[in-house]
Amino acid sequence: MAAGIYDQFNDTRTKLLQVYKELKDVTNDLEITIYDVNDTFRCAAIEAPEIPCCQTELTQKKLDSVMKMLNRTQMKISFFGRNSSGKSTLINALLGSNVLPSGMGHVTNCFVHLQGTDLPEGTCVTAKEPHIIRPIHSVMELTSALQDEHLATNSVVTVSWPKKECSLLARDVVMIDSPGCELDNEFDVEIKNQLKDSDVFILVINAECSLTRGESEFFRKVKNDISAANVFIVINRWDLIDNDGAPEKVKNQHLEKCKEFMRNNTHAPCKDEVERKIFFLSAQEKLRQTKPSTPAQKERHKAFATFEKALARSAFNSKCIPHINTAMDICGRLSENIEKMSKSISDTRKRIAGTKAEIKRKHDSLIQELRSNISSIEEEVQRTVFQFENNVSEAL
Ligand code: GTP
Ligand code: MG
Repeated sequence: MAAGIYDQFNDTRTKLLQVYKELKDVTNDLEITIYDVNDTFRCAAIEAPEIPCCQTELTQKKLDSVMKMLNRTQMKISFFGRNSSGKSTLINALLGSNVLPSGMGHVTNCFVHLQGTDLPEGTCVTAKEPHIIRPIHSVMELTSALQDEHLATNSVVTVSWPKKECSLLARDVVMIDSPGCELDNEFDVEIKNQLKDSDVFILVINAECSLTRGESEFFRKVKNDISAANVFIVINRWDLIDNDGAPEKVKNQHLEKCKEFMRNNTHAPCKDEVERKIFFLSAQEKLRQTKPSTPAQKERHKAFATFEKALARSAFNSKCIPHINTAMDICGRLSENIEKMSKSISDTRKRIAGTKAEIKRKHDSLIQELRSNISSIEEEVQRTVFQFENNVSEAL
């Protein structure tokens, strides 16, 4: 995966934070101007103009919450699905290394947060004993570290893995592995709680089974708590199709079910985009790094590379684009309020005989300053969008 993309993301994030700080300043200035205008008119014993309600407090709150999200450098990519669908194997394939335990039956029985570390070796910390940093030399050790615990359903194990071994972790991505859903109601509630603020969701389906109503129902509950779910579907273990007589028929069955799931449970905007978010992969083949030889293997290999790219692009977009749109929206509302305030003042002046020249001068210059601040912020946001989109398409 291109390393440049992560720098572009951080660059855009920093610029957006700056834009949000400037918007906060303009909102503050607008609030002060409203008070000042009211005050001046009151002191001059003139009936105060009807200044529109600028909802400055609401705007401030929104700006604060977006700034909090922008300050979180990490991008959260969560994997969920029924047990044994290959969630842990898929994460391992993305890491290019057998880090997480995987196997038949119910393997992952707690939440695993996977993040990068500058240390040369992997470590693991459990929520129960946060002061003990356990070294991980092999998957077996991580398995026993996980199984040592009498884990509660909300247990989180944080695994730090050397950044030098995985460019994805080197760039502030946190991957969350979850226990299989639909096994236990308590777990299902916890999965929803732990994953709901993810930047990207990856639903992993076992190619041998069909997408179940339970998986859809489960995701509907997740969706209720988040505004715009960014979901990918991976039909994993697709290598097993090589032994099936009718691969196209199975593929179409999966596609139909997955598209229906996307239509009903996500905010996927158009048909093409829905299809671009469904992948037929073999995490195991990718992890084993065997050179693809048959056409089917080559196709899966290519699909995995496309998946990685789409994942990176989507994670960045969902982290930046909504905030760019919010900034544009706030700019628009602020300028509207500035114009309304200017009109309201000039209407009042007209109503008053003997307009006071110094009031006019003062307010005109305040409004002029607000206008020019907001239009330079708008230009800055537009430049950021343009640069971000250009850089992302060059980097990916
Ligand atoms: P839980 O943690 O129990 O919820 O399972 P999981 O979804 O994390 O699945 P896991 O990664 O443990 O994989 C389950 C089994 O499927 C293991 O035996 C894997 O080796 C196997 N598996 C995973 N991916 C593939 C794949 O692409 N192809 C094949 N043939 N087997 C796979
Ligand atoms: Mg697992």
